[in-house]
Parts: sequence; C-alpha cells; structure tokens
Amino acid sequence: MAYAQIKGWGMHLPSRIVPNESFVKMGLNTTDEWISSRTGIEERRLASRNEATSDMAVKAAHRALQVAEAHASEVDLIIVATCTPDYIMPSTASLVQNRLGARKAGALDLNAACSGFVYALVMGAGQIEAGRAKQVLVVGADELSLHLDWRDRSTCVLFGDGAGAILLRAAKEPGILASTMGSDGSGADLLMIPGGGSRYASNGRNGASNGDRYLRMNGPQIFRWATQMMSRAAEEVIKDSGLRPDQVDLFIPHQANLRIIENMAKRLGLPADKVFSNVGHYGNTSAASIPIALCEAIAAGRVQKGHNVILTSFGAGLSWETAAPSSRLCRRKIPRRRELTGLSDQ
Ligand code: ACO
Repeated sequence: MAYAQIKGWGMHLPSRIVPNESFVKMGLNTTDEWISSRTGIEERRLASRNEATSDMAVKAAHRALQVAEAHASEVDLIIVATCTPDYIMPSTASLVQNRLGARKAGALDLNAACSGFVYALVMGAGQIEAGRAKQVLVVGADELSLHLDWRDRSTCVLFGDGAGAILLRAAKEPGILASTMGSDGSGADLLMIPGGGSRYASNGRNGASNGDRYLRMNGPQIFRWATQMMSRAAEEVIKDSGLRPDQVDLFIPHQANLRIIENMAKRLGLPADKVFSNVGHYGNTSAASIPIALCEAIAAGRVQKGHNVILTSFGAGLSWETAAPSSRLCRRKIPRRRELTGLSDQ
C-alpha cells in the first residue's frame, strides 16, 4: 500500500493589514480591548478588490510546489477547499489547475467551510493510498470578507482572507496515521451564508434579500460545541494513531478564537507550547487557517522531522475533521522563512 506524505507547503496572505482599531474608526460599536480579550484577534488581512480566491490559491500552491521541488505538470489531482469560490461554476480548482499549468491534473472544489482543508487533505491522501494518484495538491483558500456585514460587530471582526497549500506525494512510509470526520447538519442554521444558492437565489426568487449574502452566526453556541468537539476528536485520533498524548509534539487547531483553542488545550491537558496559534495576526481565515498555521509552525521550527502533529478543524455544517499527518513531512532542510511563506511579497 502507498502512503501519502506532505512534501511541500506554502501560503499567501493579502497585503492589506486591518487592525482592530480600524473598526472603531469606522464607527462600529466595539473596542480593541473587547475584540482582543474575547477572541485573541489583533489584526487580519483583507483581500483587495481585484484579488479573488483563486489568485490567493495559485500563489500558495506555487510555493508548495517549489518547496516539494515538484512541477505542476506532475500533479494528478488538485483539491481546493473553499466556501468562497470565484464562481458557482466552474470550480476554483479548475482555474488553479489552468494557471499552474497542471496539464494532467483532475480538479475539484470541496466545501466543508472551515473544516474544508483537513477534509481535502484526508480525501487527497485517500486517492494516493488507493493507488489512483501519486501527487495531490491540496489548497485551503477563502475570502469570507466578501460575505461580512460591516455593521454586525458580532461577526465582522472575526474573519480574514488568505490561502495555504500542501503537496501530498506517494511514499513507502506513513502517511496519515489516523483521522476522524463528522457532520451534524441539525446545526446548519448556527452558521450560514443563506443567499446565492438555490434556496434564496440572488434574482429575488423565494423572497431573497440583500442581507442574505451575509454570514450569520450564533457565536456562543458554536463556541460551546467547538471546544467539546475538538477535544473529543483529537483524543480519538491520538488513540487511533497509536500515540500516547505526551508523544504529540504540536496541535494545530482551526484558528477561530484563542479562547476556543485554550479551552481545548485545557480539556486535553496540553501545555501552551504544544499548541500553535496565529489567530492574533490573521483572524479566522476559514479553510486557509490550518495550512497557514502549518506553514508558520514549520517556519518557526515548531514542526520538525520526527514530530507528531495533530490538525483539528471545525466549521459550518456543522462539520469537523481531525488528522494526524506523518512526522516525515520535512524531508529536507527547511527553506528559509521568506521562501516558505512568501512574506517577501508583502
Ligand atoms: N464588540 C463589542 N461588543 C460585542 C462585539 C464586539 N465586536 N461582538 C459582540 N459584542 C457584545 C454582544 O452584543 C453582547 O452584548 P450584550 O451582552 O449587551 O448582548 C456581548 O458582547 C457578549 O456577546 P457574546 O456573543 O455572548 O460574546 P462571546 O464571549 O460569546 O464572544 C464570539 C462572541 C467572539 C463570537 C464567540 O462566541 C465565538 O468566538 N464563537 C465562535 C465563533 C466561531 O468560531 N465561528 C467560526 C466557525 S468556523 C467556520 O466555518 C466559518
């Protein structure tokens, strides 16, 4: 049986930095103190008017290919996890495939909201493990700023835009050690963007209104569910991967709220240095949050060869996916931070 290992990684963030104070200046009834103490978020990146999801995805994917020393023409499959595609159709993945010159690759989008990247990682790995692909490019990219109501202080301060990507390649040694996924559609209305689909079409059918294109969320209920679910899923994956909890070197959770992350860490009895967070700089970048965090953890030397890593995500659906990718992701010397993250572009 073939295994799928992470051999390349890259990220892209828009250059526009929006600090909490900007919301106060905009006249929103909020404070920097409220946002940072309730969420850990200090600033976020927002895409410019001409920057679509595929533009960010292509840049992140390029870097992942560079790190893996792979050529786009060798990629068999491209999966773009996104809930903010460029178009309803064609898929954002098809646009990425064309711009990368990945001539022989199949391409599809996957929508599991903020859980999308870890879902796509496990689906992509499955193709390699089944012998149907040798190299799979997995991208998480979202531009949720397009769906924020800038007058709604309970949602607009939480999100940012960005993209992250990895290249999976067939290998003889593991691999994704274990994973668990789930969905609870009874919580669908806790977090949704109702407009633009077949239920509330944008042509005004079925009583659609302008407000239907905005993200709506019951924050406190998502908070309670996420803290419980992430710790349960992480425990399951640690057990299934044959590791002891103390053998896990780094947890990379979905970056939505620092208090959710700290709560999860407390439930699992994890010391702070075993949990990665960069939510302070980027806010919740949806499907991009985990690959961006993975890139930064590698660049900071917090993921090294031989390390055991747990990626744990949650999102609208409700949906979740947790995975333990093999610690062999760093096959060669880790590239310098600038090469890896593309921070030189900013
Ligand atoms: N500034 C000031 N006050 C605010 C703000 C703000 N930006 N936002 C809300 N408040 C107010 C509320 O109106 C409320 O006021 P009230 O008591 O007078 O009614 C008060 O603060 C407390 O509001 P809560 O919603 O109870 O605050 P809470 O501590 O729960 O924090 C938050 C809200 C940050 C949204 C939190 O619930 C949360 O992070 N939830 C999880 C959200 C999440 O992770 N979503 C992403 C899912 S992933 C995906 O698929 C996209």
